Amino acid sequence: MEQKPYQIGLIGCGTVGTGVLELLHRRRDVFCGLLGRSIEVAKVVVRDIEKSRHAAYGFAEPDTFTDNVDEVTEDPEIELVVEVAGGVDLPRQWMMSSLSNGKDVVTANKAALAFHGDEIFQAANDNDRCVYYEASVAAAIPIIEILQNGLAANQVTHLSGILNGTCNYVLTRMEEAGLGYDEAVEEAQQKGFAEADPTLDVNGQDAAHKLALLARIITRSHVPLEQVFTEGIEQVTAEDISFSSSLGYRIKLLSIGSRNEDGSWELRVHPALVHKDEVLARVQREVNAVQVKGDAVGSMLVYGNGAGSLPTASSVVADIVRAAKGDKPIMNSANGQAPRIVSIGEVAVRNYIRVTVLDLPGVLGRVTSFLGMKGISIQSMQQPEAKHGQPVPVVFVTHKVKDSVVSSALAELRERTDLLNGPTTRIRIED
Ligand SMILES: NC(=O)c1ccc[n+]([C@@H]2O[C@H](COP(=O)([O-])OP(=O)(O)OC[C@H]3O[C@@H](n4cnc5c(N)ncnc54)[C@H](OP(=O)(O)O)[C@@H]3O)[C@@H](O)[C@H]2O)c1
Repeated sequence: MEQKPYQIGLIGCGTVGTGVLELLHRRRDVFCGLLGRSIEVAKVVVRDIEKSRHAAYGFAEPDTFTDNVDEVTEDPEIELVVEVAGGVDLPRQWMMSSLSNGKDVVTANKAALAFHGDEIFQAANDNDRCVYYEASVAAAIPIIEILQNGLAANQVTHLSGILNGTCNYVLTRMEEAGLGYDEAVEEAQQKGFAEADPTLDVNGQDAAHKLALLARIITRSHVPLEQVFTEGIEQVTAEDISFSSSLGYRIKLLSIGSRNEDGSWELRVHPALVHKDEVLARVQREVNAVQVKGDAVGSMLVYGNGAGSLPTASSVVADIVRAAKGDKPIMNSANGQAPRIVSIGEVAVRNYIRVTVLDLPGVLGRVTSFLGMKGISIQSMQQPEAKHGQPVPVVFVTHKVKDSVVSSALAELRERTDLLNGPTTRIRIED
């Protein structure tokens, strides 16, 4: 007797949802062969039922569309709910009711999981269900699968990722075309690599949501978003890009999870100078990449599309097939004891510091001794030629020093109008 189809409900039929319908259609015979039953999209929930959806109608019957989400979350025939609508609070409700109604959940929604993950994963546990979320971090790159299953034999010691394509595109174009920050953001918007409102991307929040999700797996515990230090790229100027380049570095927005010897973790998202010889420095434009170090495997890099309809749908559909097979991850993120998360102030890094001083005798020496007195030792210094008496930028590269030492020294230095004549920038260097 032929097996009953695996019935799924799709919430959202925009960029990602349409791609999901297309890939399920394209691979339907393969999946049917693998699972011994077909995957059937029983319902597709959208906000505006009147909107015409020609791209999707080829893959789902128009009468499967509804604007009533209960038709998916409450339908006993539907075994899996796929949430690709976006938002934070409504998806939380949809996922919670789907799980309590005995359904598995697939989502691409990093924001909802970063804010409500603890509750949602707990509900999955309580109901013996699973939440699959491969597409929520780095879209096409199967980094969740790698961390949950592939690297199960490892203690992950370090993870460093370029997880936001908008920021990487902006920083790349500032370097290769000499664009200013605003111009580069505008170009990213025109090319479809940035939202009309790019705030959550450029302020580092989107990357922080993703790091919190990866940290959940590698620390095997719930990581509250507030514990991820987050700084965006808004303050990075064309001047910083150019100075960094002449020093042999590129500026990248990095998401870093690093395990210290005592078992504590650093979790931070911020712009960082990465030496041009490093692989992450070579990840350019809108591409995403994650470098992972494990105590058995050493270092590895995964690289690919961090957004887009089919690349994102590729991961969503892989999750749908996993759910249909009943595969559960080896590394269950909810069963570990929370490690200590080190505050940013305790982290020791090298720094790039750019100040603007008046080109007058003795000023530079006074700035250097000020930094020295605060416990910041200078590794190198760069100063272009300037006209006597005119403001001139000076870049210091520091030796490794505790972050809080630099923060408080710079806060004090910014008040010293007798030494400085313009803004001060600090960018951490990732060695
Ligand atoms: N786009 C990407 O490259 C990408 C990559 C990785 C992850 N994601 C994540 O995937 C999710 C979807 O992104 P997207 O780019 O596909 O968004 P999108 O193009 O804006 O599509 C959203 C879809 O959800 C529907 N929807 C929104 N709010 C709804 C509500 N309250 N009730 C019912 N339906 C609702 C919309 O209905 P209407 O069509 O009627 O407006 C639309 O079909 C987001 O969480 C996003 O962060 C996206």
